[in-house]
Amino acid sequence: MQNDNSVAVWDIFVRIFHWSLVAAFAVAYATSEEENSWHIYAGYTVLGLISLRLVWGFVGGRYARFGEFVRSPAAVFRYVSQLRQGTAPRYLGHNPLGGWMVLALLATLFVVTISGLKVYAIEEGRGPLAQGTEMITVIGAAHAEDREGNRAEADGDAEEFWEEIHEGATNFMLLLIAAHVLGVVVSSKLHHEKLVKAMITGRKAKDLNCDK
Ligand code: HEM
Ligand code: HEM
Repeated sequence: MQNDNSVAVWDIFVRIFHWSLVAAFAVAYATSEEENSWHIYAGYTVLGLISLRLVWGFVGGRYARFGEFVRSPAAVFRYVSQLRQGTAPRYLGHNPLGGWMVLALLATLFVVTISGLKVYAIEEGRGPLAQGTEMITVIGAAHAEDREGNRAEADGDAEEFWEEIHEGATNFMLLLIAAHVLGVVVSSKLHHEKLVKAMITGRKAKDLNCDK
């Protein structure tokens, strides 16, 4: 597997992170309508993974660092026009468009998981955000004649609000994933390389033209 013609790109953390994330997201999505705790555990796993990835983006290996792959909007536009002309260069790490896709995937996953925690807190009074819901109900009850009635109503409104965010962000995530996988396929074809295999072995060929 390892030969002189290849170079280590994705470190062990990034690879384990990636495939664990794919699995945890799939489980969370598949169990979202079920009554058991799988959805909650899988959701916590996603939150844990993306939190670790955030730290790794500052202290991890060269190609895992945000500073290495988050490029200026001008660089992204240049890359897009090169893509259109069929002259896009090959990057060993993430290309400029892929770099922003990584950020979009991570940011959207934060919205999905934090809103999930809010729904869990309001609906079941459980999870790390459970105490915070008291504040919402107190504010909601401020203009109440019937405190109890309004408290329930405020809880209902807040629950509906966070459920909308939770589901909306999940649907947006599905769009991003489709674009992400399309990007991987297009990029693999364009530069005649096996990007999925690289996310498993961590290695990429170093003798192709236009390495960046
Ligand atoms: C089975 C479908 C998938 C395949 C084949 C795939 C493949 C890949 C590949 C090849 C890369 C490296 C891209 C590059 O070379 O620049 C990558 C990166 C990434 N993918 Fe996927 N992916 C899949 C699904 C997902 C899903 C479902 C998520 C999110 C839930 C995801 C999140 C990410 C993230 C965050 C990165 C950046 C990795 C890092 O730098 O830490 N992927 N993916
Ligand atoms: C990537 C992770 C996650 C995904 C993809 C996801 C997706 C979804 C989806 C699509 C639903 C809507 C099901 C429906 O109403 O038909 C849902 C519901 C729910 N999620 Fe998540 N979720 C994730 C993480 C979390 C987390 C971390 C928590 C809290 C710990 C959570 C708590 C809940 C709760 C309590 C519901 C039920 C809402 C209701 O009663 O309709 N989710 N989730």
